[in-house]
Amino acid sequence: MSENVAAVKQIERLRDEINQHNYYYHVLDEPHIPDVEYDRLYQQLQALEQQNPDLITADSPTQRVGAAPLSSFAEVSHEIPMLSLSNAFQAQDVTAFDQRICQRLNTEQACYTAELKMDGLAVSLLYESGLLVRAATRGDGTSGEDVTANVRTISSIPLKLRGDDYPQRLEVRGEVYMSKQGFHDLNQRQTELGAKLFANPRNAAAGSLRQLDPAITASRPLSIYCYGIGIIEGAELPESHYQMLQSLRAWGLRISDETARLAGLQACLDYYQAVMRRRSQLPYEIDGVVYKLDDYAQQQEMGFISRAPRWAIAYKFPPEEELTRVENIDVQVGRTGALTPVARLEAVKVGGVIVTNATLHNQQELERKDVRIGDTVVVRRAGDVIPEVVRVILERRPEHTEPYQIPKTCPICGSAAVREENQAALRCSGGLVCPAQRIQAILHFASRKAMDIEGLGEKLVEQLVERGLVNRLPDLYRLSLEQLAAMERMGEKSAQNLIDALQKSRSTRFNRFIYALGIREVGEATALSLTNHFKSLSRLQQASEEELLEVEDVGPVVAANIAAFFRQSENVSVLQSLVDEVGIHWPEVAGSDQTDASLAGQTFVLTGTLESFSREQAKQLLLARGARVSGSVSAKTSYLVAGENAGSKYDKAEKLGVTILSEQQLLQLLAE
Ligand code: IVH
Repeated sequence: MSENVAAVKQIERLRDEINQHNYYYHVLDEPHIPDVEYDRLYQQLQALEQQNPDLITADSPTQRVGAAPLSSFAEVSHEIPMLSLSNAFQAQDVTAFDQRICQRLNTEQACYTAELKMDGLAVSLLYESGLLVRAATRGDGTSGEDVTANVRTISSIPLKLRGDDYPQRLEVRGEVYMSKQGFHDLNQRQTELGAKLFANPRNAAAGSLRQLDPAITASRPLSIYCYGIGIIEGAELPESHYQMLQSLRAWGLRISDETARLAGLQACLDYYQAVMRRRSQLPYEIDGVVYKLDDYAQQQEMGFISRAPRWAIAYKFPPEEELTRVENIDVQVGRTGALTPVARLEAVKVGGVIVTNATLHNQQELERKDVRIGDTVVVRRAGDVIPEVVRVILERRPEHTEPYQIPKTCPICGSAAVREENQAALRCSGGLVCPAQRIQAILHFASRKAMDIEGLGEKLVEQLVERGLVNRLPDLYRLSLEQLAAMERMGEKSAQNLIDALQKSRSTRFNRFIYALGIREVGEATALSLTNHFKSLSRLQQASEEELLEVEDVGPVVAANIAAFFRQSENVSVLQSLVDEVGIHWPEVAGSDQTDASLAGQTFVLTGTLESFSREQAKQLLLARGARVSGSVSAKTSYLVAGENAGSKYDKAEKLGVTILSEQQLLQLLAE
């Protein structure tokens, strides 16, 4: 018997501890222990429950998954209807909203809670005596579907409320969503399985929640932000919505950190602008912001109009997806000769910007989406990403269209287009004979992280190449002031500035120079590794593929690319001119004893906003100490450096048990 009492105690202790860590992780966004430790606690609990099956309760953290698949969802009628919001599309709509409120309440200034308008689906969570007893979708607002078994699998939704001051009956409302990263990963998996792809995170979230088999929902990366309540019984209602949200957070429900309490119209409009600027960096999709009159008594005074409250409004962002027509399909030639099909579109405003071109990536993608000239397509522009064609509206396809084929020859120089093994892209085989590749190679050479030649933009390089003034890189340095000043959109002053910039670029760093050469797949990091390893151009030039393979970060493909580059006599002669005739030089690279390789072998990922330096600067500092810096978190990541507003990378690092460093800790590490 006493053994059983001990088991009861230990099970309770483990459940409390696990729930506490869930709260730190999901609600406060501030994990206290590494994932491995969490997993150990979880496994301990699981083992104990297996030994004592009679002690398993529905609110145990181990009981999230496990319900059997349903044949259909039961209907749930909402005791208090789930309303929708009126929309504002312009600042003046918000101004009118605020005016109505101030007038009706006879006040100078109203106080609002501003929230993000999450792009997911609304759910209702009913807690009785602190336990999650039912979850339902919004449906038509009056009745929805019972998705309790599915919602229980969402780890940011507590099965049991925290504390002891929660209402006896409480209905929480919020938006279930999928992060951008989660959506991306899910579609990747779907591709591998040959399964249907989701069009956007909202569809993916809705599709995942409305699965009859909870095991499938459990495998989908869903999360929630709560934004309000429905039923509340057995507790005093606070004075304001904002206070209510704070209470919800204390009871363990996830509330967005972006939620703000604002006084007056101007603050609301500023909030909109501030959120819009960061929209593309947020780890999830939002389609606007929501303003809610904060004071509950005032809300009541305002009342409702048809299906929406008069005390709230959604101020929508310009849509990130739009419909338009494909006027033509062109092929662009990149620096390395990759042929990229591009859709020329009837101009359309997407996300506040006029879009006339969208990438179709490559032949495979083009075939998968089967985009044809004349098609009506969905274009999408998420943040500052290049616009892309998402899908074709087949119902609107005109008659007599044909699948598009990328030409077999380069559209610029006529050289054969070839596809290398295991590569999606077709490439022009013309190399620097191809003017398009020449232009791109020059632009890359001049770019900021390469030779950093300010003022050498695309339009100018095009003219210089077209007029035959620049055929090879060294020609850049032979341009005269008069020649430059004679180009379109150039004056004496900008020509002189460019001459100065060219002069300045003669003195550079070895790693920048290597990067500037544009050897395929030799990015900044590889250029730096090559610098540290070979230290001089002649040694690098003479390195065999075998020797190249000894360099950190260089695999067989890159080694082959580098060796091939230096085998080409044209490249060797360009290099010689750049160094001997033009006089490009760099400080000698320090001998191995002086090279700081204190972080060699460590892979860093940077996320969020850093205070003392930009992410780029932090990256350079890490590279200079021999570290690798990668764009995404994986099991190979040694450290994640998390600045302000770190997003999904943080979650992923946490999941994988990657060590997370604060900016302060990074500074310490760099100082060591
Ligand atoms: S409040 C009476 N707040 O937008 C107020 N809704 O058009 C009802 N939504 O069905 C909703 N983020 O799916 C509210 N911070 C937020 C929201 C939000 C997203 C969705 C929700 C709702 C729809 C209303």
